[in-house]
Amino acid sequence: MEVIILLGEKDVGYAAAKRIGKVITSRTEPVLGLATGGSPTGTYRELVRMHQQEGLDFSRVRTFNLDEYLGLDPSHPASYCHFMRTNLFDHVNLRPRSAVVPSGMVVGQEIESYCEKYEEEIRQAGGIDLQLLGIGSDGHIGFNEPGSSLTSRTRIKNLTKRTREDNARYFSNPDEIPHHVITMGIGTIMEAREIVLIAFGKAKAAAIAAAVEGPITTSCPASILQMHPNAKVIVDEAAASLLQRAEYYRWVFDNKPDWQKDR
Ligand code: F6R
Repeated sequence: MEVIILLGEKDVGYAAAKRIGKVITSRTEPVLGLATGGSPTGTYRELVRMHQQEGLDFSRVRTFNLDEYLGLDPSHPASYCHFMRTNLFDHVNLRPRSAVVPSGMVVGQEIESYCEKYEEEIRQAGGIDLQLLGIGSDGHIGFNEPGSSLTSRTRIKNLTKRTREDNARYFSNPDEIPHHVITMGIGTIMEAREIVLIAFGKAKAAAIAAAVEGPITTSCPASILQMHPNAKVIVDEAAASLLQRAEYYRWVFDNKPDWQKDR
């Protein structure tokens, strides 16, 4: 796991966008795994800028989102489908059918087979080249809450009380926050060839410390990234503030050999 500590939120967004841009330009059919929420908005803003000002071409890109609230119509302003359209999809030249967000409208018996199909679609696309992740204050990735199996696949999950409270800010009426979601599993996420987890702000410091330096445990789902062969954790100073080995990570980053600098 590579830990990159940058000054602030903006730098985190730029660094993640730069890495995603690199994957887009270096592959013939790039496949991205995407996240929603407050963490990636700066990354998407920068990707849109790179498209508009530098011609970053999304026409060959396919994307799969991590998760979606169950019961929310795609046009609901708090749905992740709506989030992706307004933050990224509507502003770049992605082909509409190449950008997939799990449906929040599947119900009952359909959910299991829908989730299997979602996994199959990712496999058919050749697997995910780069998965972008945020982290919950409880250490979740996707909506794999603490206690999730570290080998889980795409499925329905119950949100914890804490996650519903954390996400209340995205809803005008807190009673509307769904209890259930569809999320890629931890096993699904771990199959991505590269993972970039981004976080900023003091509220994420404890989760980042547990994920990067704590034991690998279902109590902090993000800790499984320690087992990934190509995972980067890009954080600002505040989110890094509880890391014991922060000085070492900075040293490693500042002394990267030239041939590694673009990776
Ligand atoms: C969203 C997702 C979640 C968020 C996490 C952090 O697609 O998968 O794991 O990344 O809840 O959310 P923010 O960035 O809003 O703090």
